[in-house]
Amino acid sequence: MSEKKLDLNQVQRQLMQVKHPELKKDIVSLGMVSKVEPQADGLEITIKTPNQDRRLQIGLEAQTRQLVSKIEGLGKVKIKFEVDQTMKMEDGNRIPGVKRVIAIGSGKGGVGKSTVTANLASALSLEGKKVGILDADIYGPSLGKMFGVNGRVALKSEEDKIYPLEKHGIKLISFSFLVTEDQPVVWRGPMLGKAIEQFLYDVVWGELDYLLIDLPPGTGDVQLSLAQLIDLDGAIIVTTPQDVAVLDAGRAAGMFKQVKVPILGVVENMSGFSCPKCGHVTDLFSKGGGSQLAKQIGVPELGQVPLTEMLMKAGDSGKPALLQEPKGVLGEVYSKISQGLEEQIALYAD
Ligand SMILES: Nc1ncnc2c1ncn2[C@@H]1O[C@H](COP(=O)(O)OP(=O)(O)OP(=O)(O)O)[C@@H](O)[C@H]1O
Ligand SMILES: [Mg+2]
Repeated sequence: MSEKKLDLNQVQRQLMQVKHPELKKDIVSLGMVSKVEPQADGLEITIKTPNQDRRLQIGLEAQTRQLVSKIEGLGKVKIKFEVDQTMKMEDGNRIPGVKRVIAIGSGKGGVGKSTVTANLASALSLEGKKVGILDADIYGPSLGKMFGVNGRVALKSEEDKIYPLEKHGIKLISFSFLVTEDQPVVWRGPMLGKAIEQFLYDVVWGELDYLLIDLPPGTGDVQLSLAQLIDLDGAIIVTTPQDVAVLDAGRAAGMFKQVKVPILGVVENMSGFSCPKCGHVTDLFSKGGGSQLAKQIGVPELGQVPLTEMLMKAGDSGKPALLQEPKGVLGEVYSKISQGLEEQIALYAD
């Protein structure tokens, strides 16, 4: 056995040069690398393919061996293949390696879209799913604050790739990671288009079950082009219980319908107030906006998230409320939402 400690990043860098012969993308970005496991006498790499295509497998094995053998003192390299028929390999506008891409939208700002995104991601992650969040809210990126990361992503220009940051087991990318706080960037015109494109296609997510996209609020051009740029598997609309918010949310629903993205459901946020002591929920505002909107657009209401002190405080504590307190009122609400989401997705699954 080699004395040198095995550097898995080095292995990953080599694997990122193994190209799928038809898709012209590397097997890491395509989510085809399922395991890289150090062994007593070397390394075992498991590569996933969508079917038992021996020509593809032999080609990939040859490339992998050649590239990995450049790492000194690695020992024996064993390459295994496993077939995963659920893998989506078609190119199109799909984000490589990501099984489900869900956009979270709202008609207007301040309804709690980012809070819902962060906690839904946490709920899915607590269920053992691999989750990423793309904060596409160029006007008010808030993901960094919610997860307590104010790092900047390394833009490895030699590879033209962006690597997400990871916190609490969730992979994160936000526009705010590209700029410093005292140096706000005004995204406009071609630069915005380029940045969005990079954010959608050049992020090395690896393998994800869910990528949640926190869209900018509203239903303007930016939102529309974002919704068109990627093959979204579905959208969730967040609204507050009041009538006005529901009207705006209805417009967001119209936008997704226009670009033929299935709406998976509605989440009503700030739905009553949950007493921090006893958990009892009292209605503060008018009620039922979420279910009214859901009925109007013919989709389920996935859940009602009450106003809680915990959620409010967690907003800038660096850890989503649900991860701080996975049980209790929030735990119940979010597991219902994530269950509903999965049921809805199954309906649309191809
Ligand atoms: N259910 C809730 N209980 C308590 N506070 C909440 C709840 N939902 C959201 N908040 C708080 O309300 C504020 C706005 O929420 P958030 O930033 O998620 O909204 P948004 O729709 O993403 O806003 P923006 O349009 O600015 O992106 C935040 O301070 C957040 O912590
Ligand atoms: Mg937000």
